[in-house]
Amino acid sequence: MKVKTSAPGKLMLFGEHAVVYGYPCIVTTVESRIYVEIEKSEQFKIDAPQVKDLRFVEKTIELFCDKYKVDNKLLIKTYSDFSSQYGFGSSSAVTVATIRALSDFYKIEMSKKEIFDLGYKVVLYIQGVGSGFDIAAATYGGTIYFVTGGKVIEPLSVKNLSLVIGYSGVKADTASIVKNLESRIHNSESKYTKIFENIKKIVEQAKVSLINSDWKKIGELMNQNHKFLQELGVSTDKLDKMCQAVVDAGAFGAKLSGAGGGDCMISLVPENKIKKVESSIIKAGGEILNVKTNI
Ligand code: PMV
Repeated sequence: MKVKTSAPGKLMLFGEHAVVYGYPCIVTTVESRIYVEIEKSEQFKIDAPQVKDLRFVEKTIELFCDKYKVDNKLLIKTYSDFSSQYGFGSSSAVTVATIRALSDFYKIEMSKKEIFDLGYKVVLYIQGVGSGFDIAAATYGGTIYFVTGGKVIEPLSVKNLSLVIGYSGVKADTASIVKNLESRIHNSESKYTKIFENIKKIVEQAKVSLINSDWKKIGELMNQNHKFLQELGVSTDKLDKMCQAVVDAGAFGAKLSGAGGGDCMISLVPENKIKKVESSIIKAGGEILNVKTNI
């Protein structure tokens, strides 16, 4: 018997970094997915050329097999729609897809929350830090309002989110950016608490605006969120330049998405400005990532 499952990648819309410290964020999934295939085998074997860090698959299998007392003599193969280079969360997607494949293979029913909890354990074990927002996105799909560690996981009904995504050409390492910020917070806690409180206000307003498809307001909130990310010291000149360029080209708003230090920026764009915004990203030295969101 062979089973095949999948999980989607993600994009952070609002609230990155603050969400590591107990605040909420809003994340959405992308159409690109990672697929995991499992079959019985003589021995444990992983064939996952697209997975950047195999420990996510290995640890997931170890924790699952321990928890449900099943054996790991399996052949695990992965396939991917997207490169792990882009910050779409390939590690969290492969973790969730592996849990789903194992639960299908062994016919063990798991709730979404159980999948999330196991996946989050894997992330914490390997990265040591992280809010779990990416595991929640891969597990629940669509757009979700999320609080640290899955304290709140609330699906939001968001329609026709028209995002243009730009890649800044630099791969950022999320865990080291998070750890770097953590060490800076130690030295001036009140300054960062104020920033996080402001980001929280933005996230709460964005939640309402997203449900109401109030694009203009969402754009303004993205710009504000980006300013606070600059204050946190996680943006780069290139990301700032790309965000400014798209706003000048007619986007409702823009911000970096994810840990920062490179990777992606996102912009919310009126239909008739998409072409202009895309060229402005290229002119600013970025690359357009063509993926549908809110899937
Ligand atoms: O770099 P990404 O896309 O994986 O996003 C990281 C988001 C953070 O809030 C900085 C970390 C986290 O685990 O929430």
